Amino acid sequence: MTSSTTQSATRRIDVSAVREFGEVLLTSPARLCFIVEAKYENDVMPGAVVDVLRSCGHHVDVLRPNGSVADLWDLLPTDVARYDAFVLKTVSSGPGLSLLEAAAAAGVTTINDHRAIRLARDKAVAAVRARKAGIPFPKTWFASKSGLLDQIPPTSYPLVVKPNNGSALRDVYRVDSPAELARLDIDDSGSLLAQPYLPNPGYDVKLYNTGDEVFATVKRSPLHPGADVVEEQIPVTPELRSLARAVGRVFGLDIYGIDVVETADGWVVLDVNDFPSFGNVPRAAYRLARTVLRVTRRQAAAKESARASAPTVYRSVLAPVVEARA
Ligand SMILES: Nc1ncnc2c1ncn2[C@@H]1O[C@H](COP(=O)(O)OP(=O)(O)OP(=O)(O)O)[C@@H](O)[C@H]1O
Ligand SMILES: [Mg+2]
Repeated sequence: MTSSTTQSATRRIDVSAVREFGEVLLTSPARLCFIVEAKYENDVMPGAVVDVLRSCGHHVDVLRPNGSVADLWDLLPTDVARYDAFVLKTVSSGPGLSLLEAAAAAGVTTINDHRAIRLARDKAVAAVRARKAGIPFPKTWFASKSGLLDQIPPTSYPLVVKPNNGSALRDVYRVDSPAELARLDIDDSGSLLAQPYLPNPGYDVKLYNTGDEVFATVKRSPLHPGADVVEEQIPVTPELRSLARAVGRVFGLDIYGIDVVETADGWVVLDVNDFPSFGNVPRAAYRLARTVLRVTRRQAAAKESARASAPTVYRSVLAPVVEARA
């Protein structure tokens, strides 16, 4: 591509990881393009996944939408497709999703699926999607500006108020009363969500799905900064695993994380994130590289079989219509 295609320093191969994940990693070379937003340029993810893929012989370009102009025609598959798949770790309101959706519009595989990212990234959409599918999720109100929040019944307090497109714990408030709401200076630059505050032990459990496995980590809640919490990996119970997998199915995500809290009524999902940081997940980069290749191949096979079955569809469905009109 005309945009930046830097080759990051390839790290040393972890031989035992290659042995564990090699069956997929060491298959015929794939051509991939990672879209990396400025915020993640110096982060472990997704750079570590790029390194693993390159070290296993795959061709990976990195497109940096914040640093270079992107030639959109380069996204189009020509006779020989330039890329087998595009991969994005999204940032709220970042430019990467437009490029990923442009690649999808050209028929190229995207990871995660671009529609799944849309569902997860807009918290209002995610709330309704989860609720409709029976995923436990707090009641949620949407307000285009903070001045409307006083229409929420006082009986619903305490509330949590947060930006609709929030991430990284930005501007999340617990509000205990209408009087406190009136005193708050809430950033009105974007739409807001409000939910009843769900009493919980003071920590979140972050469930990460690398595509093949679910991992769980305890994390202090920003609403309980003083809580005595040991942030560490914990075992994944069957209940948490099936909750995480249900969210993946409902949203159509392959690589994702969810924030859950334990309440008196059981585990409740508060947030769905496509491609999170996977902090504390052992060998996360290898696991994610394997998923990227698996999804790429799965999609290629699905496209191939759709192509192969097109004439049959034509014969059985379209041909009688065409004949009847003749
Ligand atoms: N309804 C709620 N009841 C209790 N705690 C909540 C509620 N909503 C949010 N929180 C707390 O606030 C945290 C941040 O909320 P949320 O995940 O929705 O925002 P965020 O900005 O997307 O965070 P991040 O992207 O960093 O995970 C949650 O992880 C949880 O600890
Ligand atoms: Mg969150």
